[in-house]
Amino acid sequence: MLVHVKNVLSPEEVAHCRQRLEAGDWVDGRVTAGQQAARAKNNLQIPEDSALARELGDLILRALGRSPLFNAAALPLRVSPPLFNRYDIGMGFGAHVDGAVRAVPGAGIRMRADISTTLFLSEPGDYDGGELVIEDTFGSHAVKLPAGDMIVYPATSLHRVEPITRGSRWSAFFWSQSMIKDDGARALLYDLDRGITGVRGELSDDNPAVIALTSTYHNLLRRWADL
Ligand code: NI
Repeated sequence: MLVHVKNVLSPEEVAHCRQRLEAGDWVDGRVTAGQQAARAKNNLQIPEDSALARELGDLILRALGRSPLFNAAALPLRVSPPLFNRYDIGMGFGAHVDGAVRAVPGAGIRMRADISTTLFLSEPGDYDGGELVIEDTFGSHAVKLPAGDMIVYPATSLHRVEPITRGSRWSAFFWSQSMIKDDGARALLYDLDRGITGVRGELSDDNPAVIALTSTYHNLLRRWADL
C-alpha cells in the first residue's frame, strides 16, 4: 500500500528546512547504508547525529503528529529520527530494500522498520530524473511529489531513486515501526478507517452503523496490535 500524504509541511516550513540545509554539512550517504545498499547508493546526507538533523527532524515529527492520514496509514509505534538526503546531477540509488532493524540514536533501543517514508523538499520542476520507483505486488510506481508532500510505503518493497539529470533533489526520510507488523492487515485497517471517515461525513456519530464500524475498527486494532 502506497499512501500519498499532502501538505505535511507548509511552504514556509519547506523554505525554512531548505534554508537551514543550504548551510548544512553534507557527507557521503554511504555512512548509513548496509553492505548491499552501499554499493547501490550515491547521494549526500546530513550526518544523523548533527544538531541540524535533530532540529529539522523534530520539526517533521511535530508535523507528523498533526497528520491524521499518516497516523491512519502507518499506525506508528516508533518513528526514527528523520534524516536528510540530497541527489545532485549523476547521483541515484539503485534497487534495494531498507534494513529491517535500526538502532534508535540516543534511545538505547532498536526498532523494526515496517514502513519507509520519503518527504520531498524540492519541487518536481527543480530537477529531472530522481523518481522514487517502488515495486509492489501491483507493479512499479514512479513517485515524484510536490515539496512538503510525502509517500508512505512498506519497508519490504524493493525501491530505487533514478539518477538525476538536471538540478538537485532534496528530501527527508524516516522509518516507522507500526503497531501492525503485517502490511496486509495494516492496509485493511487503513481502508476501514477511510471508509469510517467517509461515512461520518454522511451520518451522525451516534448513528448505530457508525458506532458498529468504529467499534469493529478498534477491536481489530486491539486484536492485531503488537506493542
Ligand atoms: Ni531505501
